[in-house]
Amino acid sequence: MFYYYGRKKQIAKYYPKPNYDTIIEPFAGSAAYSLYKDNWKKKVILIEKDEKVYDIWRWLIHDASENDILNLPDLKVGEKSSEFLHIVHAATKMAFHFKTIKVTSVLERNWEISKRVFGENLFKIKHWEILNKDYSESPNIKATWFIDPPYKGDAGLGYRHSSKLLDYGKLAEWILDRQGEIICCEGKEGDYLPFKPLIELTGIAGKVSKEVIYYRTDKNLQLDLFE
Ligand SMILES: C[S@@+](CC[C@H](N)C(=O)[O-])C[C@H]1O[C@@H](n2cnc3c(N)ncnc32)[C@H](O)[C@@H]1O
Repeated sequence: MFYYYGRKKQIAKYYPKPNYDTIIEPFAGSAAYSLYKDNWKKKVILIEKDEKVYDIWRWLIHDASENDILNLPDLKVGEKSSEFLHIVHAATKMAFHFKTIKVTSVLERNWEISKRVFGENLFKIKHWEILNKDYSESPNIKATWFIDPPYKGDAGLGYRHSSKLLDYGKLAEWILDRQGEIICCEGKEGDYLPFKPLIELTGIAGKVSKEVIYYRTDKNLQLDLFE
């Protein structure tokens, strides 16, 4: 919904379609999978531990009107901002550690795009639920679980609640205990589940990043679409 380091907006199309009436994202971030195509029409439950990210969702879901979105001020290069919603648009994983940021042309442009995205998509999220909790406190209901934790290793270090704070062994056990369907995202260092290659992405300066996936259709079926 908003610009976010590690969001799945560009690659949402590569993940399996949700087969259940409910989608749960226990590591919400900007929840690109839930917003993708018609996925938003389902019952969507987001869980996010970072209070500042939770506050953005709470505002968008419960408070913001289309008029509020229209009235959001533009950002101009050289200005300063201490709003976290602006800061996440700076396109750097260090954003989580800045209190104030100087607006760059990238931030100005990302913010302009996000304002348009908010305006066009606000109605889609008004029935969603957002919880400010740890992933482990998610309700274990039959659902499509889109699980996108901070990636193991360096790639997941930027977040306020980063890869350093996660016990991936415990996370793996918790993932396998989910009811319903599991889609779990990881990067090249993901080794705690039998991940399979999904796609290789070429970023700025030709840097290739590897995306892997663990997919399980249903706890009782144990089928794997990717075999
Ligand atoms: C890779 S990002 C999710 C990106 C998201 N899929 C998107 O499309 O924007 C991981 C998110 O998990 C959150 N997080 C980290 N540790 C958490 C925990 N223990 N419980 C819940 N959320 C957590 C981070 O704050 C971050 O927003």
